[in-house]
Amino acid sequence: MDKKATITIEDQSYEYPVMVGTENEHAIDLRSLRKDTGHITFDEGYGNTGSCESEITFIDGEKGILRNRGYSIEELAEHSFFIETAYLIIYGELPTNDELSAFRLNIAHNANVHTRLENFMLGFPRRSSPMAVLSSMLNALGTYYPQMASNNRQQDLEYFDDAAAFLISKVRTLAAMIYRNQTGQPYIYPRNDLHYAGNFLHMMFSEPYHDYEDRSGLTNALDLFFMLHADHEQNCSTSTVRMVASSGANLFASISAGVCALWGPLHGGANTAVVRMLEEIYRTGDDGSKFIENAKNGKAKLMGFGHRVYKNYDPRAKIVGRVAEGIVQKMGIKDPLLDIAKNLEQAALNDDYFVERKLYPNVDFYSGIILKAAGIPVDMFTVMFAIGRMPGWIANWREIALNPASRIHRPRQIYTGSHLRPYVPIDQR
Ligand code: SDX
Repeated sequence: MDKKATITIEDQSYEYPVMVGTENEHAIDLRSLRKDTGHITFDEGYGNTGSCESEITFIDGEKGILRNRGYSIEELAEHSFFIETAYLIIYGELPTNDELSAFRLNIAHNANVHTRLENFMLGFPRRSSPMAVLSSMLNALGTYYPQMASNNRQQDLEYFDDAAAFLISKVRTLAAMIYRNQTGQPYIYPRNDLHYAGNFLHMMFSEPYHDYEDRSGLTNALDLFFMLHADHEQNCSTSTVRMVASSGANLFASISAGVCALWGPLHGGANTAVVRMLEEIYRTGDDGSKFIENAKNGKAKLMGFGHRVYKNYDPRAKIVGRVAEGIVQKMGIKDPLLDIAKNLEQAALNDDYFVERKLYPNVDFYSGIILKAAGIPVDMFTVMFAIGRMPGWIANWREIALNPASRIHRPRQIYTGSHLRPYVPIDQR
């Protein structure tokens, strides 16, 4: 029997259908609430609001479960790799050999960017935020493929497969160009014989006459880092991509907006903030206990901890933590920040303040350790998150674009400003 919810306002009752998701999540379908009752819902931050139905990712925050298209993140981390998981997230099924080869070829053969974009990048001040540059460059990229970024939805869908492969491939090239530009080094062009993460490290760290050699498994660690970030339900940046896509905007513009949302320190900027926090703790000689006290009395936030959805350990954090430990050991580096991070984690997991609020490490807590070990500068960490999240953003744009019932996102508000008042000439104010 279909479940119903009843809302009673004064002496009038209204019945609404209850939607039940694949994993038994429940939602009250209030799409006719304002028409029926003259009331809207109020849910600052949308913590209790479902903005869409989606088939891409499922998270159970209480149980610490994350699945992409029904596959657990643990299984994907063990058996899959970034480009295969990207295909799965975008198209809904694991690729066959032929599908994977075609997808990989399209990505490999479109890693270069137009030379005029190289000049465009030179226009930014050297110390520009990499996320500001990346967002601008991704929108600019769309101007070189007007047929894919037409804002004519049917046409943009016609070119979707190429646009998706181009963005996955070129976001990595643009990221490396940002780093090379920032450090005053010549751009290193991509190589067709390298897989995704290896090509990225090549473009980042090769010299004109000496190719980068990965001697410590960083390529695999980076590939796993990208895969763990590939999609994560309706997080702030993905919801931004959907918001922009809902207006009919093309994939490049929607993704560029998503990059700006990810930039925030409460979201993707947290991986940078975690390392800054660990460096500060290390610099002051604190063993972490003073910082924990500051976090408990609101003077600081334990960056990399807490999550709007996970009220249990973020399953990605467990995997990233293990990879970070492995890389540091394999490279024989003694990273004091890793020790501080582990002390902080243990202290927080045993402290009532964090336990009561169900604050656990999230994906950003350990990821900086891997990126530091790879030689990625801290101000590029969130760019790395953006590279990983690209397939999720693309998949969410496609889900909106393919849905004929999709409507422009236009939330309501509760107005708390002035009542009607007459204009006052300046000499009477
Ligand atoms: C990502 O949404 C996603 O899926 C995001 C992401 C993805 O893959 O896309 O998973 C990636 O963005 C991970 C989150 C990275 N951000 C951080 O690590 C920044 C630190 N975390 C916090 O800012 C916070 O936990 C948020 C922003 C992540 C979640 O914030 P909420 O859900 O709005 O929770 P809240 O701020 O209302 O906090 C509830 C309580 C408050 O205390 P009280 O008012 O009850 O006394 O918990 C406290 C907060 O002060 N709290 C923290 C804390 N996080 C929450 N206290 C200290 N340190 C923290 N990190």
